[in-house]
Amino acid sequence: MGPQRGSRTQYSGAAPGMSSMLASEADFAYLGGEDSPRMCGEGEQPMGHVLSGSTEASDGCASRQRLWRRAADWKLSRKDLLLKQELSRTLKSTLYQATWQGVDVAVKCAGLHDEAMSAQLLSNHHGQSSSGNGDDEDITEELLHEIDLLSSLRHPDLVMFLGACIEQHLPIVCVMEFLPGGDLEHFYMAQRRKHDAAVWHPGIRQVLQWSLALGRALSFLHGRGVVHRDLKPMNLLLTKYLEIKVSDFGISKLMAHCESEGISMTGGIGSWRYMAPEVARHQAYDEKVDIYAAGLIMYFMSSGKAPFHQLGLDPEVILLQYRQGKEPRPTATDCHAKLRPIMVAAWHTKPVLRPGAHEMLESLRLAQPSAASCGPCAQM
Ligand SMILES: Nc1ncnc2c1ncn2[C@@H]1O[C@H](COP(=O)(O)OP(=O)(O)O)[C@@H](O)[C@H]1O
Ligand SMILES: [Mg+2]
Repeated sequence: MGPQRGSRTQYSGAAPGMSSMLASEADFAYLGGEDSPRMCGEGEQPMGHVLSGSTEASDGCASRQRLWRRAADWKLSRKDLLLKQELSRTLKSTLYQATWQGVDVAVKCAGLHDEAMSAQLLSNHHGQSSSGNGDDEDITEELLHEIDLLSSLRHPDLVMFLGACIEQHLPIVCVMEFLPGGDLEHFYMAQRRKHDAAVWHPGIRQVLQWSLALGRALSFLHGRGVVHRDLKPMNLLLTKYLEIKVSDFGISKLMAHCESEGISMTGGIGSWRYMAPEVARHQAYDEKVDIYAAGLIMYFMSSGKAPFHQLGLDPEVILLQYRQGKEPRPTATDCHAKLRPIMVAAWHTKPVLRPGAHEMLESLRLAQPSAASCGPCAQM
């Protein structure tokens, strides 16, 4: 079976011919600029997902125009990029490790790159950057949206956006700081291998540090009216000091957009295992879906087990249960005692009764062991 949207299929090995420069900046023309020939027209529908009653095409168009107006702040030259190796490949994107003016960076390109597409990325010749089918346009739109959002968000607990290359007929490239620890999901997998154990988890101090970072990031995002909507361990990246940063804003949404247009977010968006029940049920939802996901992520970090692991490998089973009106939840007693009430509150069945990000952050701060405590406390 081919790779699934959002599931990673590959995480190592240099991609063929990855050591040369990206294409030159000849014929530099931004997609979606006022004088660009490629305005938001037919065949450029963004992902068919989110807003009931909304016109997301015009939303995508607005985000292109916003992006274009700020181009001077973020545009990068391809010739300053040197690709090194492929990091990850999903149906949505291909990630490369690269250097930009000597700095280690991660480069995100829309779509699943096969060898021919990788070659095109490196080519100086303008060609068709996609096969032109609707799905490719959706994916491109999603990356443009991510660039638009990331370029306007600045916080130490979010992955740092460095810039983008958006020339006509060339693959769109988003350049971010490179996080050498990879994502949290793969970090746990590596730890399990290293310790030759079926389950591995760190002590409470580490779990709390990570949870605090997630809480700070959510407090910042929600304060700005941004809902991430796809929080999961694979979208939490680790620095060389093992601090986590939130990444992957492809399907994040500005709530203000929805409110001003009198619409609410509905629809199955995000990754199933960490998806809030109200999303799975196609009910209206808000930023509390991120709080729900944070609760499940804390469960994963603290127990070392995937939420709902007892229901088997197929996350669709969980969705089915939600849709049947059931409310399965992970077993809180698998986790460190200090974290349990915070997790349980975060995954409350009623979104309105889940804490806000700021409140969750305060609870996490209070749960921190005092400076005087040590040793055995870390294992509570
Ligand atoms: N800045 C980065 N540094 C290191 N690895 C990264 C970085 N960004 C993404 N990755 C790796 O690539 C994977 C996919 O990236 P992501 O932005 O989540 O793409 P997608 O939208 O396809 O899920 C991540 O799960 C992570 O393993
Ligand atoms: Mg991702």
